[in-house]
Amino acid sequence: MVTAVFPAAGSSKRMGGGVNKNLLELAGEPILLRTLKTFSKVERINFLIVAVAAHEVDTVEGLLRGAQGLKPWRVTVGGSERQYSIANGLKLLPDDARIVLVHDAARPLVTVQTINEVIDAAEQFGGAIAAIPEKNTIKVIDAEGFVRYTPPRAELVSVLTPQGFRREILLQAYDRAAEENFLGTDDSSLVERLGIRVKVVAGGYQNIKITTPEDIRIAETFLEA
Ligand code: CTP
Ligand code: MG
Repeated sequence: MVTAVFPAAGSSKRMGGGVNKNLLELAGEPILLRTLKTFSKVERINFLIVAVAAHEVDTVEGLLRGAQGLKPWRVTVGGSERQYSIANGLKLLPDDARIVLVHDAARPLVTVQTINEVIDAAEQFGGAIAAIPEKNTIKVIDAEGFVRYTPPRAELVSVLTPQGFRREILLQAYDRAAEENFLGTDDSSLVERLGIRVKVVAGGYQNIKITTPEDIRIAETFLEA
């Protein structure tokens, strides 16, 4: 079976307003609920783990208790970095979770198809991530703000979530990162350090991360389409 872990314990600084952006409404429904409902439509997923700030545990548990159509879930306390929030969530993995997905709560427009493709590829290859071809030219720069070089765009993708892994691979990657004090910006980067090849799956340009206030409007436009 598949368990999904949702980091939702950030401080939403770029959104502003002093509230957890994952609790803001998108077309009338909280972002976190939209995300969890989409994952709950995936048959193979049997458990959802949500990491939130300590002072939000009661609020979020209340929200989820009142919601229809959710797979069984647990809420836990997150950490000061996304990676630590996920590490806390992983402590609640049920024994029967063979594949673990990690998904930003703040990506409510993810599709069931993308989730299924990540699960399939994670089962086949050990690890898989949703990504989209990079539209911009990306430069590698130095500390003085000068261009060092330009990697060929055809070799670049922008990485999204979900990211999925066989249980033992992800747990080993998190253990290793903790031992070595490695802080990554996604889950795959922890797994890559084990020497495991991670498969890239088509992610969908609508699967944006709600980050700034404009993103709410952009996401609502996607929902209308
Ligand atoms: N997240 C988390 N724990 C943290 C930091 C982030 O669980 N310590 C979660 C966020 O709640 C979000 C996801 O990771 O669902 C992606 O992070 P991001 O978009 O950066 O959210 P925030 O960190 O909350 O936003 P900001 O960086 O603007 O403060
Ligand atoms: Mg952040």
